[in-house]
Amino acid sequence: MSARGYSTRRFSFAAGHRYWVDAWPAARNEETFGRLTVPHGHNYTLDVTVHGPIDPETGMVIDLAELKRVVGETVVERFDHADLNADPVFRGRVPTTENIAVAVWDLLAPKLGVERLWQVRVWEDPTLYVDYRG
Ligand code: NI
Repeated sequence: MSARGYSTRRFSFAAGHRYWVDAWPAARNEETFGRLTVPHGHNYTLDVTVHGPIDPETGMVIDLAELKRVVGETVVERFDHADLNADPVFRGRVPTTENIAVAVWDLLAPKLGVERLWQVRVWEDPTLYVDYRG
């Protein structure tokens, strides 16, 4: 049996958002989210971890160039310099760090395979991150 490895590649994107539930009156949004209702931006860091057996010949879990290409095309190009509230993946979902992690997972799982994708970690800033594992 071959050894298993967990490989992580880091990405970054800058995006804008605000916390707002359309179905709620403004007063309830302001009470719940405070200043987060005001549109603002973050420089997000995204760590995508894949896992699997370390191929005895290549010594790799996944072709990390392929991982870079897939995440770049699927997530970074989509979210970089974007208004997250306007993206269909956040229709009816507040673009919190939690929901961004879920959205990234949902975008990547069909491309990387749920058996290979292990974890999505989204950093909103150096003090806050959310992990999602499907
Ligand atoms: Ni924010």
